[in-house]
Amino acid sequence: MTATSATPEAEPAAIRSALAGWYAARGRHTLPWRRTRDPYAVLVSEIMLQQTQVERVLPYYAAWLERWPSFAALAAAAPADVITAWRGLGYNRRALALHAAAGRVVEVHGGEFPWEPSALRALPGVGPYTAAALRCFVRDEPVPVLDTNIARVVARLAAGIALPRDLSPKQIEAAAAALLPDAGARDHNLALMDLGALVCTARNPACGACPLAAGCRWRRDGQPPPRAAAKRLAPRFEQTARYARGRIIDRLRSGPAAEDELRAMLPAGHRPRLAGYLAALERDGLAVPIGSGAWALPPG
Ligand code: ADE
Repeated sequence: MTATSATPEAEPAAIRSALAGWYAARGRHTLPWRRTRDPYAVLVSEIMLQQTQVERVLPYYAAWLERWPSFAALAAAAPADVITAWRGLGYNRRALALHAAAGRVVEVHGGEFPWEPSALRALPGVGPYTAAALRCFVRDEPVPVLDTNIARVVARLAAGIALPRDLSPKQIEAAAAALLPDAGARDHNLALMDLGALVCTARNPACGACPLAAGCRWRRDGQPPPRAAAKRLAPRFEQTARYARGRIIDRLRSGPAAEDELRAMLPAGHRPRLAGYLAALERDGLAVPIGSGAWALPPG
């Protein structure tokens, strides 16, 4: 069988069934935010998990729900307390967004979680990913949930592409949508998420342990590598030769200096290149060797 673009090697039904079997045996079912359908608790978890690893989030999530168990409780909290409780999770703006979302649920929606799409997206901190996660993980709605792990799995499986950055968001969404079941989307998406986190990892995929290996386009195609990441257009100024030469000249303005001293003064990344910098300075007439490995500004 030849696959067309964004089509896995196996039928979606076969993929779903292999995935479900693997998830039942190996999924991370005990994660506490997977044991609730409370939109408040799921929102707290998804906002905490946006930029922070699962292991780190676990104690914060428990303490947060203990202290502020509902939208109403969080809405009544002082922002300073919310920011303090967030300390250690990073990206503090997320804490304020969560607090503001709680305020909005209480004040604008009378405490009822707003599922209407535009009202949901109007909650601070709720972007397309979090909105989809809420729909799927609270209500089992069959929507693609495209976190980085799920996007990577479907990019490989259906498009034969190593990393989702080499596909457009529309292509990834179409590939994920084509795999969705009519019922059971919650477990399906959680299974894809776990497969990406535990097996189909970015750098070191364990294809031998993957329940979807037989249907994977990427594997069939010999695991082509990702395109090289876009190069930084400009190095930071501190990384440039111009910066290093400037430092050398600054030093020489206060008198001659030995090469060892000049090398020690430079940031580590520049030290192996000292000889080249000095040669260039000499060529440009900005520095001269004065013997015994010492340098000075040009005389006169
Ligand atoms: N379970 C539900 N949402 C999750 C997430 N964002 N990361 C890890 N596990 C999850």
